[in-house]
Amino acid sequence: MTDSKSTPLQVAVIIGSTRNGRFGPVVADWVISHIDQRDDMVADRVDLVETPLPTQFPAFGEAPSEEVQEMVGAVAPRLTAADAFIVVTPEYNHSFPAPLKNAIDWHNEQWHAKPVGFVSYGGIAGGLRAVEQLRVVFAEVHAVTIRNTVSFHNYGDLFDANGKSTDPTSDVAAKGMLGQLAWWGQTLRDAKRTRPYAV
Ligand SMILES: Cc1cc2nc3c(=O)[nH]c(=O)nc-3n(C[C@H](O)[C@H](O)[C@H](O)COP(=O)(O)O)c2cc1C
Repeated sequence: MTDSKSTPLQVAVIIGSTRNGRFGPVVADWVISHIDQRDDMVADRVDLVETPLPTQFPAFGEAPSEEVQEMVGAVAPRLTAADAFIVVTPEYNHSFPAPLKNAIDWHNEQWHAKPVGFVSYGGIAGGLRAVEQLRVVFAEVHAVTIRNTVSFHNYGDLFDANGKSTDPTSDVAAKGMLGQLAWWGQTLRDAKRTRPYAV
């Protein structure tokens, strides 16, 4: 069996917000800077603005148009290649943004038997209500959500002009979440090599 430590985990970091002027990329780059400090994982930054997904599904039984295939084809292989995910999400009306749900819904086996960690941000609740709802959705697509989260409460006060967190507890939280993500990612990757996941 390949030593799970010798092949870094491929971690897709998905930026959940797409609006003009969004803060999401700052948070994503912050968590990627933590991944970059580790030798057991590498990050792939998936930005749904750079690679948008269609917002309308084809009718059941209808082949997707070429345009739809092209849009989905720009994202799906990257999610397939991922051993693990980090979802960076704000809180929109006590839930998560619609483009993020759309990205989850356009895929299925890409999520199977893979761990998902969360980094959230928002007002006083720090985006945690979005995270709790995401756990329910990811369970449906056979993903395993990571217990520890990183959440930025009233995030506007917590980053400097260079996008660095000024809250030392967030660095501790990132270490904890990434440690659990690595454990689940390596364990599930090894297990799937021995026996295919039972859908
Ligand atoms: C449509 C909408 C709904 C929002 N609802 C909430 C909310 O329920 N709770 C909260 O803490 N912040 C809420 N906010 C504020 C967001 O947390 C804040 O605008 C954040 O910057 C959004 O992330 P983004 O900049 O990456 O889009 C909302 C923002 C928008 C645009």
